[in-house]
Amino acid sequence: MRRIKEKHALFFNSINDFKSFLSESTLSRKRLPIDPSSCGRELDKKVRFMMDKANKLENELTRNEIIKVRSLFRRAMCDCIKKSKILKRFLEKPLGYPGDYFMFEMIYNQEILSKNKIGIYFDRNVLTHPVAQSMIERKECIKNLIDSFITSSNKKELNILNLGCGSARELKELFASKKYSKKLIFELVDQDNRALNYAKTNLSKINANNLNFLYHKKNILNIVKKEDLILNNGDKYDLIYSIGLVDYFFGNIFENFINNLLRKIKNHGKIIIACCSTNSYKDFTYLKWFSDWNLVLRCPNRLEKYLSRICNGKRVKIIKASSNAIFFVEISS
Ligand SMILES: C[S@@+](CC[C@H](N)C(=O)[O-])C[C@H]1O[C@@H](n2cnc3c(N)ncnc32)[C@H](O)[C@@H]1O
Repeated sequence: MRRIKEKHALFFNSINDFKSFLSESTLSRKRLPIDPSSCGRELDKKVRFMMDKANKLENELTRNEIIKVRSLFRRAMCDCIKKSKILKRFLEKPLGYPGDYFMFEMIYNQEILSKNKIGIYFDRNVLTHPVAQSMIERKECIKNLIDSFITSSNKKELNILNLGCGSARELKELFASKKYSKKLIFELVDQDNRALNYAKTNLSKINANNLNFLYHKKNILNIVKKEDLILNNGDKYDLIYSIGLVDYFFGNIFENFINNLLRKIKNHGKIIIACCSTNSYKDFTYLKWFSDWNLVLRCPNRLEKYLSRICNGKRVKIIKASSNAIFFVEISS
């Protein structure tokens, strides 16, 4: 450990610099408000500087060294991280896995939850971070994509499958502003009952006779391994979508997942999957270093070529967002 610290003194100095600036500003008689004053902006600059250095280290170190240095970083920063209600949850993962439905509710709500200065600073810092903002954009984009799928279809009834639904916030928001005359049957799948119950509570408040929501507690990885995605008596779907799920699929799980979905899609149906992008890999450093939240990033162009190869005969399209951190892949049958 000491060897690593000495070898990468510049990086560890940047942590010390950040922390001493933080304690000077919070303890100073002037009691500078951390948010959103010049002091807050100075701290933002120092966080960005640390993350730039962290990015450089990612390119220089071995896999094992990176893991060690990241954990040294979190140990050094943990008193700050734990003052922020939001970063604390990201780091501690109280439901046992990263990216639980409530972490996303925190991002979507954009509310500062901490009461102390350092906590307020980090709540704001994480909520305004480009990755958090891209998650909000992802939700907005999927609302538009679902809406245009529903309105452009000439069917009277549509079956829609949402995989890794979490709080299904996009559906709550979509139906708060839109009414459709078609019958819409949504099936929501998640591994976590707490997420499904939360989604159910919210979606049950929607007052519309043409809407039907079905909930399935399933581990999609198990379904993928058994190579069949049997939910509602083996029915097929007009639209299958997923946001914030495949970012946790390493190796060939993703390919099996897509192959599985291809068998579950009706003629003229669509699969829409959101991915995190390698185009913005530097932004994801923050999540990895501050909260040990690791995501699989994908290259849009390579993914398009790869999917065009495995989805023979289907049209594969990449849908870009204004944030470089995310994109959607759309497969039309
Ligand atoms: C990052 S959240 C995204 C939630 C929601 N789609 C959104 O974007 O707000 C991922 C969700 O996928 C669920 N999930 C992760 N891995 C899963 C798996 N193997 N099977 C089923 N659900 C899974 C988690 O429980 C969590 O609710």
